[in-house]
Amino acid sequence: MFKDFALAPADPILGLTAAYRADPRAEKVNLGVGVFMDETGTTPVLRAVKDAESALLAAETSKSYLPIAGTDGFRAAVARLLFAGALPAERTAVLQAPGGTGALAAAAHLVVRARPGGRVWIPDPTWGNHKAIFPAAGLSTAAYPYFSRTTRGVDFDACAATLSTLGPDAVVLLHACCHNPTGADFTLPQWEEVARIAAERGWLPVVDFAYQGFGEGLAEDRAGLLALLTRVPEAIVCSSFSKNMGLYAERTGAITLVGEDAGATARAESQAKQVARTLWSNPPKHGAAVAEAILSDDARRTAWEGEVAAMCGRIRGMRAALVEGLRTRRGDVDFAALAAQKGMFSYLALPDGAVARLREEKAIYMVAGGRINVAGLLPRQLDYVCDSLAEVL
Ligand code: LMR
Repeated sequence: MFKDFALAPADPILGLTAAYRADPRAEKVNLGVGVFMDETGTTPVLRAVKDAESALLAAETSKSYLPIAGTDGFRAAVARLLFAGALPAERTAVLQAPGGTGALAAAAHLVVRARPGGRVWIPDPTWGNHKAIFPAAGLSTAAYPYFSRTTRGVDFDACAATLSTLGPDAVVLLHACCHNPTGADFTLPQWEEVARIAAERGWLPVVDFAYQGFGEGLAEDRAGLLALLTRVPEAIVCSSFSKNMGLYAERTGAITLVGEDAGATARAESQAKQVARTLWSNPPKHGAAVAEAILSDDARRTAWEGEVAAMCGRIRGMRAALVEGLRTRRGDVDFAALAAQKGMFSYLALPDGAVARLREEKAIYMVAGGRINVAGLLPRQLDYVCDSLAEVL
């Protein structure tokens, strides 16, 4: 069997890291994968995480299996972080999942149970893995208009027009905040309009919420999500602690089901547990225990919130410096849209040729389309990156 396989290409995002590592050039810059680095180029373990880990290490007495959906403490903590009490508890069911990707895969496998061969609408553009996760579960994908390459912001009219044509069989993937790759988010009134369309047309929103805290703040970043969830009967939220707790390698995330009432929610939860049992059986313990220990302890939680705000501040400062550096080099280009982008990424909407040229000639690695990880850009690299970008813009 194996000799007949075609050689699969490297992953368009994670494969970049391998290519970057293998690059011998001293000036190389890795702006590919969305991982936060501090100003020295380190992806730190947060202090709140270290503190939680010390306490857990001292107190742990067993490594027996967790329940399929994760511990009650973790599940309640996730619900508080996502919804802040805005939804009745009996309408929500949280299941721990291995990272945001695991949550999306579980969502795909849950959806396919109700809609075999169904279609998931994803924004154009979107995170590359969305295009692979849903088909891997037997669903097809189609793109809805999202980003205008002219205004470099959300093309809301085109987006709303397409979403208004979809019916109850459709599933629509939305990014809650810090849209990956564009950094262009819906405004609150736009979220309200999306919610109105979803409720009227009856399609199912699946919300990818991987960057809570990296846009405006932990509470602010869920405002759009809540505007949606308080207006629709059903939704799925896929969330992650990879970024906001720096728990990348611990694969700590959650799939949360929002149902019309307690009965529908419980039925969907029972199906999701079967899905989890077949995909990973029961979830990994460590990262979830850390997240629970942070979120359920006032002192640790306050310390963590400060660390999230600091990471967000570094990203904002770096984006402002990038925009300033580009403005001084290219006075003929309008960078207002770049300055307004939110989250880890800046999106330059570059042709593939320019992205390849930056990698080949300048050793600057970025994701296709010109997505830059601003959280990976170091102050000492800024001039080199601005000089190089100014040549291709
Ligand atoms: C990214 O978009 O770079 C991150 O979400 C990491 C990943 O898994 O692709």
